[in-house]
Amino acid sequence: MRVVSLYAATVVSCLGLFVFVGKTMKTKPCWCWDRGQGVTAAEHTRPPSLEYVSYGSYGVEADWTNPDRLIPLDYDQAQGQRIFYQQCVWCHADTTPAGPSNRNNVVPLPPLLNDGAVLNKETDASLVRIISLGGGAIGKSPMMPPHGKLLTKEEMEDVVRFIRVISVPQYRPPS
Ligand code: HEC
Repeated sequence: MRVVSLYAATVVSCLGLFVFVGKTMKTKPCWCWDRGQGVTAAEHTRPPSLEYVSYGSYGVEADWTNPDRLIPLDYDQAQGQRIFYQQCVWCHADTTPAGPSNRNNVVPLPPLLNDGAVLNKETDASLVRIISLGGGAIGKSPMMPPHGKLLTKEEMEDVVRFIRVISVPQYRPPS
């Protein structure tokens, strides 16, 4: 009998303590997961700059000098973009959210491949030539590696199409 009353007394005082604590706490104690917990999505705000969504996204490239201008790519240009981000980005672009860059460590400093001031003067054929043969074969720096065994002629032409479409200032093909 004594055991039972001791047990009952303990249960009652525990419950009393719970109620007391629950009443005195400033915020409501949480006995279970809140209904909305984990379900309420954070508010999606527009990213501060479009560069985070568009560098290296398929079928579109952000202007490297103005991330808010998106450049739509056709199929060939998008193939060139893919190859660029596999083979050329390390040396010919600065660090972007889409990839790191080693450009600043390369001597001579490789031109950015959107640099129209440098590349618009070149014909498509001469660009394909340096991409294929490398700088060493045409009297430029051998730091520009040959890609002729790695890429097909069409892939190199696609890279050139990509270079042309991202060029700043804009590339105007000779008429
Ligand atoms: C290891 C670094 C490196 C990689 C990778 C690289 N390049 Fe280059 N590239 C250079 C350097 C350095 C030069 C500058 C050579 C010079 O001016 O003597 C250059 C020059 C060029 C030029 C000539 C620019 C001009 O002055 O007319 C073109 C075009 C070019 N690269 C395209 C590419 C393409 C396309 C790829 C990828 C398929 C690529 N490069 C990969 C380092 C690299």
